Amino acid sequence: MALVPMRVLLDHAAENGYGLGAFNVNNMEQIQAIMAAAEETQSPVIIQASRGARQYTNDAYLRHLMLAAVELHPNIPVVMHLDHGNSVATCKSAIEQGFTSVMMDGSLMEDGKTLADFEYNVKVTKEVVEMAHAVGASVEGELGALGGIEDGHGADVDPRAHLTDPDQAVEFVERTGVDALAVAIGTSHGAYKFSRKPDEDILAIHLVEEINKRLPGVHLVMHGSSSLPQELRDEINKYGGALKPSYGVPVEAIQRGIRSGVRKVNVDSDNRLAMTGAIRKVFTEKPEEFDPRKYLGPARDAMEVVVKERMIAFGQAGHAAEVPVVTLAEMKARYASA
Ligand code: G3H
Ligand code: 13P
Ligand code: ZN
Repeated sequence: MALVPMRVLLDHAAENGYGLGAFNVNNMEQIQAIMAAAEETQSPVIIQASRGARQYTNDAYLRHLMLAAVELHPNIPVVMHLDHGNSVATCKSAIEQGFTSVMMDGSLMEDGKTLADFEYNVKVTKEVVEMAHAVGASVEGELGALGGIEDGHGADVDPRAHLTDPDQAVEFVERTGVDALAVAIGTSHGAYKFSRKPDEDILAIHLVEEINKRLPGVHLVMHGSSSLPQELRDEINKYGGALKPSYGVPVEAIQRGIRSGVRKVNVDSDNRLAMTGAIRKVFTEKPEEFDPRKYLGPARDAMEVVVKERMIAFGQAGHAAEVPVVTLAEMKARYASA
């Protein structure tokens, strides 16, 4: 079993100067796509599930699918991570479900919409750190707030209104003891991020560099990091979709972040775009088709291509065999003696 706490992967990535994609999953095909890409590139992987994903799969389906991935790929270190936990209780239940890492997103209140204040964020995040570290699980916190998606996590938040303050970041890490810190640098979740090619005015990568200077040993996380490639958008629209124009986070900007302490890069929308385009293509070209395998298979293949490209671009490719397999129990002992 190569199910490992996220801290182990992040430490290895920092020691070796690379980043790790963290890919969201909701079903079997997405998990298979990630694992196939990981096998092909020999990459360690972070598989993450949002609250929505856990609800959609009743937790148990998703847990067993992720454990199947671990069983079928014994040589690939796998992290099971909760994305955007909204409360201590959600993080606790994820750990009970076998997640080896949780995100306590205390930048927003429990409703996932209302901005939280710094003291609230410190309080809930610290509580999760104490609870998670007691069993060896890792914790990601977030400071500053991302832009939102309609009806989703962080809805209605202006992406540039709440960028991470580097001074507060130092205090936040000291007071909470998080293993990783998600920073807000102007990105948003979803398929609409920037209305023009992003420059420093709207995508503040320099802020990552600034935070990294003050917190050189801390693993940073970039959310909303889909690149929204034009060809994936075109494919959807070519086959009857109606996506409006938008720009995403260029891979080169992410690579610049990785050179300055970014170790985890969250990508969901690019995979959604790839899968949707592939399904629309089948439906358009073969309207007589009704076997789900005939469209979910191509969707899985399309996602695998994107994940593989990102694994290579972020630098995690080739590192699977080097990552030490550390158990939750061993991590628990490490935290206790620190
Ligand atoms: O945080 C956003 C991720 O893309 C997950 O989205 O909440 O729709 O599952 P979701
Ligand atoms: P994207 O919507 O840019 O893929 O971001 C995903 C994310 O940050 C999940 O937490
Ligand atoms: Zn996110």
